[in-house]
Amino acid sequence: MSEQVIAELEAAGQERLAASMRALPQAARDALSLQVASLDLALVQRLVGELVRSPGDGHAPDLGPAEVDRLPGDGASLARRRLAVEAGEQALRDDRVAVVMLAGGQGTRLGFDHPKGMFPIGPVSNASLFEVHAAGVAATRRRYGCDLPWYLMTSDVNDAETRAFLDEHLMFGLPPDTVLTFAQGMLPAVDPVSGDILRAAPDRLALSPDGHGGLFRAMGHAAILGDLEERGIDVIMTFQVDNPLMRPADPEVIGAHLLARAEMSTMVVAKASPDERMGVMATVDGRAGLVEYSDLPADLEAARDDLGRLTYWAGNTGVHCLDRAFATRLATGQAPLPFHRADKRVPTVDDPHPDAPNAVKFEAFIFDALPLASRTATLEVARAERFAPVKNAEGPDSPATCRAALVDRAARWLESVGVSVPRDTAGASAHAIEIDPRFAQDAHDLVGRVPADLAVDGPLLLRV
Ligand code: UTP
Repeated sequence: MSEQVIAELEAAGQERLAASMRALPQAARDALSLQVASLDLALVQRLVGELVRSPGDGHAPDLGPAEVDRLPGDGASLARRRLAVEAGEQALRDDRVAVVMLAGGQGTRLGFDHPKGMFPIGPVSNASLFEVHAAGVAATRRRYGCDLPWYLMTSDVNDAETRAFLDEHLMFGLPPDTVLTFAQGMLPAVDPVSGDILRAAPDRLALSPDGHGGLFRAMGHAAILGDLEERGIDVIMTFQVDNPLMRPADPEVIGAHLLARAEMSTMVVAKASPDERMGVMATVDGRAGLVEYSDLPADLEAARDDLGRLTYWAGNTGVHCLDRAFATRLATGQAPLPFHRADKRVPTVDDPHPDAPNAVKFEAFIFDALPLASRTATLEVARAERFAPVKNAEGPDSPATCRAALVDRAARWLESVGVSVPRDTAGASAHAIEIDPRFAQDAHDLVGRVPADLAVDGPLLLRV
């Protein structure tokens, strides 16, 4: 096998790796052969050609503000949102919806030694991110009497541990045939000048997941799209593992997507400040698209409209709705996503402790599908209700800010039904409060479920 693999490497312009493999003992050569055989070498060759050996100048796109259904919204918008909720609820009752959780990333910034979904986030219960999402899925299944299949995209970095964790927790009570895990593809890091594939160890390639845009290829390879079709599902809602405020299969977002007859929709929140490191929705060369914070020129980042509001305010939450037929076009390569080059520090056999970027990784982004959709819709939701991701170990978007957001939301929901919540001098709840999604998914669910004289005099966990 290894002779054939080495010949394929040579044909794909990877003579250096081929030569290194020839010089290795048989066992190491066989181990590498297996890894190389799992790669899409034609794709690697194309990416090295386009993004490393002869990168283009990169065209500066023409940017404009996004078209968004904004909050607080006028009377017409409120009526539209009510209709959206009804349409979304009906689609759920009709079993037309599945949720896909993106959980294949490496979670480098958090620095947690396990899949990010295992991170304990519940402010009182210490429930993991996986459990919070599972509880949201369970609550939605019960409320609408639907199957709501939950697909989890992992990668080789975390697939085995994720599966073991879900098994150990008996899928958090969800029927096993509705919890489906599939792994995304991996791509090798390459040398930034030569484009040579790099090795992490003599017998191991330096591989990493191919970006959350790898979702479509992975859904194709793992036959997920066929499974969705068999189940009669035509709306796929994607979300990221790191935001426990997210409501899986939020009927308002699904309904807005359906009523707009969109092929792809995006849930956005207002950026907290102009320089928040968050991608924004915009029009890009006349089409809906997402601009990464690093690509938004400083003058546009600070631009404001006549009312003094930020022009590029619509921050991406990573939540999208996709039409199944559109996802199928993306999966079968009829509308392939572009790949991006990221210069990163990657430990390699030649440079085990790089102190500067020494390698190029290739990644596809799910939001690059937006300009390929015939129609899109963008809906703003209240940030404090829906968005507080865990990205960093400390500082903004960290476990501390996320738990504070969960507690704050729970406190507001309780106050909305008349419960008195003691607050500290900074206005934060004096006690940790947590509401399990199976107990309530919004403030309205608490009506009639908690007495107004409920005492909040210590940590409080409301769960069924
Ligand atoms: P991020 O871009 O925040 O990456 O992913 P990350 O892996 O969580 O963290 P860093 O950047 O290494 O610190 C946003 C979401 O997309 C998923 C992640 O699991 C997360 O839910 N993702 C990212 C994938 O599923 N696959 C990827 O290849 C990349």
